[in-house]
Amino acid sequence: MSLSLIPEIKAWVQKKKGGHAKHAEYLVERIRGDHLQPGVIADLGCGTMTVTRRIAELLGDVEVYGYDVKDHAAKRDDDPANLRYSVIEPFTFGQQEPKADIVNLGGVIHHVDQKDELRFLQDVHAGMTDGPDSRLFMHEHTLSANPWRRRMETVCLRTVEFLINEAAESMLTQYNFYTRERLLALLDRAGFEVLDHEDVGTRLVTLPSLNTNTVYWCRKK
Ligand SMILES: C[S@@+](CC[C@H](N)C(=O)[O-])C[C@H]1O[C@@H](n2cnc3c(N)ncnc32)[C@H](O)[C@@H]1O
Repeated sequence: MSLSLIPEIKAWVQKKKGGHAKHAEYLVERIRGDHLQPGVIADLGCGTMTVTRRIAELLGDVEVYGYDVKDHAAKRDDDPANLRYSVIEPFTFGQQEPKADIVNLGGVIHHVDQKDELRFLQDVHAGMTDGPDSRLFMHEHTLSANPWRRRMETVCLRTVEFLINEAAESMLTQYNFYTRERLLALLDRAGFEVLDHEDVGTRLVTLPSLNTNTVYWCRKK
């Protein structure tokens, strides 16, 4: 199979109301479940904005911003009026205006170099409002605690991500996968209180995967 087909297959799977649409719907359920009334939602590392666009469609009265460090040419002519897209320099989310009530981080932090992981989350923290409706929602691959299984998962994740990102789309990227314990400790160090964390398996991802995924629902301490 030609590697050039991979982005097309990915786009086709996403259009089929796959994990990305479910991710947006899950986040909106969370927002409604906590009776939050955000004015601004930011999707940092939004990629092609498949999730961002769905959030904007579901919450038409909320300003939704997609930010990425790479220009994925994500904006479309028929996008909803409440959806915006910006390409920003790494670690400058904290300087963007307006500040976000809710930040969505879907599969982004494992692309941040380990030496920058704390700086990355502190920048996210700086870009969020301080009110009671402020939340960070993170959906991330989760490595097992078992060291043998963890090695196997790391090899599979690296292979799949290499094919999707580097070989198919020439995207140079880092891979820094987390166990749940390591990510919980990092969130705490970055100034977040984790209100809850849930194993969501693979239901919010588009492509099949060996490992499970966790959502972290947090607020600023
Ligand atoms: C696996 S993709 C996820 C895209 C999107 N969140 C989704 O769920 O479809 C990871 C994205 O994170 C972006 N990214 C990597 N490092 C970043 C950083 N330091 N700040 C913001 N975005 C970053 C990449 O350019 C890429 O678009």
